[in-house]
Amino acid sequence: QNDPAEAAKRAAAQWAASQIEDGMKVGLGSGSTSALVIAEVGRRVAEGMKITAIATSLRSQEQAESLKIPMSNFGDTPRLDVTIDGADEVQEGTLHLIKGHGGALLREKIVAMASDKLLIAVDPSKLVKTLGSVFQLPVEIVPFGWETTYKRLSDLGFAPEMRMKEDGTPYITDGQHYIFHCALPSERTTEGNAEALKHTVGVVEHGLFLGMANRVVIGSPDGIQVLEA
Ligand code: A5P
Repeated sequence: QNDPAEAAKRAAAQWAASQIEDGMKVGLGSGSTSALVIAEVGRRVAEGMKITAIATSLRSQEQAESLKIPMSNFGDTPRLDVTIDGADEVQEGTLHLIKGHGGALLREKIVAMASDKLLIAVDPSKLVKTLGSVFQLPVEIVPFGWETTYKRLSDLGFAPEMRMKEDGTPYITDGQHYIFHCALPSERTTEGNAEALKHTVGVVEHGLFLGMANRVVIGSPDGIQVLEA
């Protein structure tokens, strides 16, 4: 409980959840910081706040349902007011993100794209000068012919590695895809790398969230700092 990283996540999550107002349609993120956000949203819903939510992963959906947060879908709720999510890396200055180490990047991107605002809650360890300096980039891959996709990404310099489970079998996402962890070759810009990944057959989506975050709240044991795009 005295863990500073945990206290930082908690501070960021509390502030992020406080930005939700009665009547809002809200996207709920994935990962440990988002779990703290969802717990706080559940507490406010129990106190009478009326919202509708869509989750970015099955795990977040289960947590939200267990807290009786009213859940919807994009058929009934085509647009969201705000999505609150975590991130693996936040680039200082640009607020470009790497997301997806929880394996939920595809749904996270779909939900973020359907939201008027994307608010990211992190602890200070997530701030980086160069994306890819701490985490590799998760890229979601169609299982059929993954060997050919692997070869194409290798040829493009992404040095892919299949994400494995502890039992030695490939990790499977909520969308029934594989994840490759990739390097970000420095001979292309970040945008160039995103384009190259998007144009590779067999790639479903990648974890670069460029120009998508409106605000990033960084928690610390002493308070919060908010960065605006
Ligand atoms: C999930 O796929 C990720 O994008 C998470 O948002 C990210 O891994 C942050 O997780 P933590 O809040 O657990 O650090």
